[in-house]
Amino acid sequence: MKENVLKVENVTMQFGGVVAVDNLNLEVGKGEIVALIGPNGAGKTTAFNVITGVYQPTNGAVWFQGEKIVENHPQGKMKQQYKGEHAGDYAQVLAPTPDKVTRLGMARTFQNIRLWKSQTVFDNVLIAKHCRAASNVFSAAFRLNRKEEAAQRENVLELLETVGLADVKDEPATSLPYGKQRRLEIARALA
Ligand SMILES: Nc1ncnc2c1ncn2[C@@H]1O[C@H](COP(=O)(O)OP(=O)(O)OP(=O)(O)O)[C@@H](O)[C@H]1O
Ligand SMILES: [Mg+2]
Repeated sequence: MKENVLKVENVTMQFGGVVAVDNLNLEVGKGEIVALIGPNGAGKTTAFNVITGVYQPTNGAVWFQGEKIVENHPQGKMKQQYKGEHAGDYAQVLAPTPDKVTRLGMARTFQNIRLWKSQTVFDNVLIAKHCRAASNVFSAAFRLNRKEEAAQRENVLELLETVGLADVKDEPATSLPYGKQRRLEIARALA
């Protein structure tokens, strides 16, 4: 059997009467690069929002590295309104917040660039390292986290080199042209 990193299973996302995503099934295997394409309003962003915990789907489930991380079924008003497929197949509610999904190892960029505008290119990526850090207020205050921070800074530099932004690391993020801001978001997601 193919080893799936990501599996989207019968995902439907309805906003009232608007069916933004209708029974989506998608699998991404290890090492694969997969694109989701479709015209404006097809539901691509909504699909990513369901996968990363921004929205709870109306129905269906999302699996990540063999573990079910998202599941939902029509509830409340939707119970009557839902006319989609696979009604009744999903019974529990699993709704991790986006930060929990990130912690599991799935990161994203945004359709509309969302960088920390006044921060430098370097700091935008360094901030993303926070969710992997073991330090706390105490260890940071007494600089016991020095080693960890040095390793993080090293890794941030590597990531900036990977996306070709090492030469502008000290510039404010918003001084970069659009294409480079996109690359910065990718570096942050990788971090
Ligand atoms: N929060 C929301 N509330 C209500 N309707 C929404 C919401 N988010 C998206 N929609 C609707 O869901 C449908 C899919 O939108 P979505 O943004 O996912 O499309 P998209 O494929 O990303 O489009 P684009 O190519 O323009 O980015 C649209 O009809 C949109 O109006
Ligand atoms: Mg979109």
